[in-house]
Amino acid sequence: LYTYFLPKENIETHKYYIVIDTLRATSSIATALSVGCDSITIVNNPEKAFELKGEHTLLLGERNAMKISGFDYSNSPSEILKNAAHFKNKKIILCTTNGSKSLLLANSKGITIAASLINLKAVLQYLLTRKIDDIGIICSGTDGNVSLEDVFTAGRLLSVLSKQDITYFNDESYIALNMANIPHARILQYSIHAQKLKKMGLDKDLTMCFNESLFNVVPISKMNKNEFKSKI
Ligand code: MLT
Repeated sequence: LYTYFLPKENIETHKYYIVIDTLRATSSIATALSVGCDSITIVNNPEKAFELKGEHTLLLGERNAMKISGFDYSNSPSEILKNAAHFKNKKIILCTTNGSKSLLLANSKGITIAASLINLKAVLQYLLTRKIDDIGIICSGTDGNVSLEDVFTAGRLLSVLSKQDITYFNDESYIALNMANIPHARILQYSIHAQKLKKMGLDKDLTMCFNESLFNVVPISKMNKNEFKSKI
């Protein structure tokens, strides 16, 4: 089992990739699927999102943590929850700064699961019941820098996975594992991205994104499809 603190190009080949962007892309994906959207397609630029816009689609995304002009919503779990009725049966096109990059990278290499604290237990259950062990965990980070909250989420996954019969952990997996028992409030306090979102008044997103296992949903995309659907 390999953990990557950043989505670098030269990662090993794995059957499954778990992509983490705790603040906020993979939390938004889990929330949107939980309120009944049909699917979430990942794109890495707004132009591509506008091209895919159709009758039953919603465009979601951010640049610098703010809604992209012309989009329907930002990349905000609390906004999705507040407008839940509008998401029912919709096809979502999601464009975010860091999350999109790591999700697209992972999906070009294998089956991809979007994981966050918000759906931690569901992802673990999915992996454990299927005895999936060829896994690469990719933390999205922020603009090429490692993110505390992503490594923490990896650690929370690894603290359960490490009890299974997994023979190999790379060094990053051990480092992440050692963070698993730090209180959530501490991570929130020290994460640079959390501080930025707090300053922007996005406290509701922070509360949701750190509400561990709030949603029982496993967003999963077949290799190369870049489309996440819900599995439980
Ligand atoms: C990203 O993908 O860069 C993040 O999800 C940024 C954000 O907080 O919206």
